[in-house]
Amino acid sequence: MVNKRIVVILGSPRKNGNSTALAQSFIEGAEKKGAEIETFFLQGMNIKPCSGCDKCITNSGSGCVIKDDMQKIYPSLISADVIVIASGIYWFTFTAQTKIFIDRCYALTKVEGWSYTHAFKGKKIVIILTYGDTDPYTSGAVNALHTYENCFNYVGAKIVGKVYGSALGAGKIKENKQLMKKAYNLGKEVSSTPKKQKG
Ligand SMILES: Cc1cc2nc3c(=O)[nH]c(=O)nc-3n(C[C@H](O)[C@H](O)[C@H](O)COP(=O)(O)O)c2cc1C
Repeated sequence: MVNKRIVVILGSPRKNGNSTALAQSFIEGAEKKGAEIETFFLQGMNIKPCSGCDKCITNSGSGCVIKDDMQKIYPSLISADVIVIASGIYWFTFTAQTKIFIDRCYALTKVEGWSYTHAFKGKKIVIILTYGDTDPYTSGAVNALHTYENCFNYVGAKIVGKVYGSALGAGKIKENKQLMKKAYNLGKEVSSTPKKQKG
């Protein structure tokens, strides 16, 4: 048996922010079960927006032609069992950093004749969101959740858990012990069934 490989994408520009605090709690739970965690803080990385050149499609399987820090994330995403995306809500959806990251994942599509497959197919996805408003509808968190559902359904990945809640000031979410515990327990849960070793 080998342990789960988990990639955590931090999409908020605040390293000490609320979505990152929930992600940290998730990580602590996952580590308790022996998961291997790799974290990427998008704000600190040089990641350009997708240019729409479509070379990843016309030259299928070649990956993205943009040689920036996204190239450091692709191999980890490909080998991950679970991908966690944490973001605050900015203007009624996830942050620009998160959107750029998702757009760049388009390059992980493989076209085969008239059909396509994506490197995320079969992977487990965890969504973490925080917002200033108290309501998931009026805050715009539902827009982000809906977009994630569309994206991951399209590529054949499964959203296995969502942790979302309200907090405005950086780190304030830590006062919501119930939500922090939910993130921690989800980390344990997604890491608790070790996968069978190949061969
Ligand atoms: C530019 C900007 C836009 C925001 N837009 C919204 C919004 O549309 N809805 C909302 O409920 N909160 C909004 N907020 C508040 C953040 O979602 C909230 O502070 C959240 O906890 C941020 O997550 P973070 O600490 O992980 O960055 C906004 C904050 C900023 C800085």
